[in-house]
Amino acid sequence: MTPARPTPPKLGPRPIRGGEVRLRAASPDDLEVFFEIQREPAGRWMLGFGAPDPNHREDFLRKWTGHLANEEIQLWAVLERPDGGAEERVVGNAMTFYRSSEEPLEVGYSLTQTAWGRGIASQVVALMLEETSERPLAARCIHDNVASIRVLEKNGFVETARATAFGHARGAEVEEIFFRLYSKR
Ligand SMILES: CC(C)(COP(=O)(O)OP(=O)(O)OC[C@H]1O[C@@H](n2cnc3c(N)ncnc32)[C@H](O)[C@@H]1OP(=O)(O)O)[C@@H](O)C(=O)NCCC(=O)NCCS
Repeated sequence: MTPARPTPPKLGPRPIRGGEVRLRAASPDDLEVFFEIQREPAGRWMLGFGAPDPNHREDFLRKWTGHLANEEIQLWAVLERPDGGAEERVVGNAMTFYRSSEEPLEVGYSLTQTAWGRGIASQVVALMLEETSERPLAARCIHDNVASIRVLEKNGFVETARATAFGHARGAEVEEIFFRLYSKR
């Protein structure tokens, strides 16, 4: 019998500039919000990769429903409670996954544009590092995604390699930076 996918605990809130952020295990109810986030042109550009057609709702829901069912993928909703606000809102997603059997567990994250620039992604990565004891961990981002590079480096990731691949969001070959995190902090 395959073991049940472990559900991560709901991590307590962490202060960000202007509010609080926490992760909770994602559910099917989050997928519509995640779909809208991945369609945002500025975020898609920063990501560089992503789906060939970001407006294809059925493809997105099929793929991400598969993520939720996949025991090797942990998918979280990123929740923000703005300063003084009672209502939490979903502002992004975060996941750990295996890109292939030869590569270490990888982290990924995306936020809606209105949540950028307040330290949320830095907290999200820190929370994910608490959630998994596996090391090394991997991460990737496109060479000009300076915000994401900074988020990774602040959390202890170091660049290990670069390679080019076709990025649908750019319609061109793009340079990707590969990162590793070796230490538990
Ligand atoms: C990349 C992303 C996750 C960053 O989220 P965020 O919450 O704005 O990030 P943070 O505020 O935690 O940290 C960003 C850091 O980059 C810095 N930064 C942002 N833009 C910068 C720029 N143009 N030049 C230099 N530094 C920049 C910020 O100052 C901050 O560093 P600091 O805390 O030392 O001041 C968010 O923009 C996003 O979701 N983008 C679309 C999807 C994506 O790119 N995902 C990552 C794929 S690898």
